[in-house]
Amino acid sequence: MAALKKDHLTIDSLKFDFARIDELVRMWRESFEFGVGVADPHPIAEQSQYLITKLIPNNMVRIAMLDGKLVGFIAATRDSISQLYVRKGNHRCGVGTQLLDWAKAQSSGSLWLYTFARNAVARAFYEKHGFRIVARGFEPTWQLADLRYEWKAQRAAV
Ligand SMILES: CC(C)(COP(=O)(O)OP(=O)(O)OC[C@H]1O[C@@H](n2cnc3c(N)ncnc32)[C@H](O)[C@@H]1OP(=O)(O)O)[C@@H](O)C(=O)NCCC(=O)NCCS
Repeated sequence: MAALKKDHLTIDSLKFDFARIDELVRMWRESFEFGVGVADPHPIAEQSQYLITKLIPNNMVRIAMLDGKLVGFIAATRDSISQLYVRKGNHRCGVGTQLLDWAKAQSSGSLWLYTFARNAVARAFYEKHGFRIVARGFEPTWQLADLRYEWKAQRAAV
């Protein structure tokens, strides 16, 4: 896949740009189904409600825009990453890395997240970026094995 023209990619705050919510939720769902390899049975409206009532109030959300199209989003706190999804068709072009770099820069110095054990691409991506597995578990909603990853910033020697 062609390398991303970084000049055209911007990382922006979703703020309360609710006009973008439909676009975001459809992209999120398609990317999730592709990455995890499952069909999401929940109605789109339920996922939009989750975004508005749970994700946005409890996280900072940033979107990646490429030539006017929403190509990725991340929801993170200073300690954790709740969601990170890049649009199917725009993978392996550096979008995920830019969103993750934003999360690291605003973090308290460490981040944790969960991913499904079967999601080999996400695992390779996080491991490339310095995340390490610290626990193995089981996610009851999706009935899938999951992994807890952690990343710690390198402290400069004094
Ligand atoms: C995981 C995900 C966010 C990565 O985003 P991305 O923009 O495609 O990743 P990048 O282009 O920034 O990749 C950075 C590095 O990650 C690793 N990586 C990314 N995709 C990979 C793949 N398909 N296979 C192996 N390694 C991969 C590589 O080391 C890559 O560096 P390189 O291209 O120089 O070799 C994206 O694949 C995605 O949205 N997947 C579906 C949804 C998902 O699984 N989200 C995570 C849920 S926890």
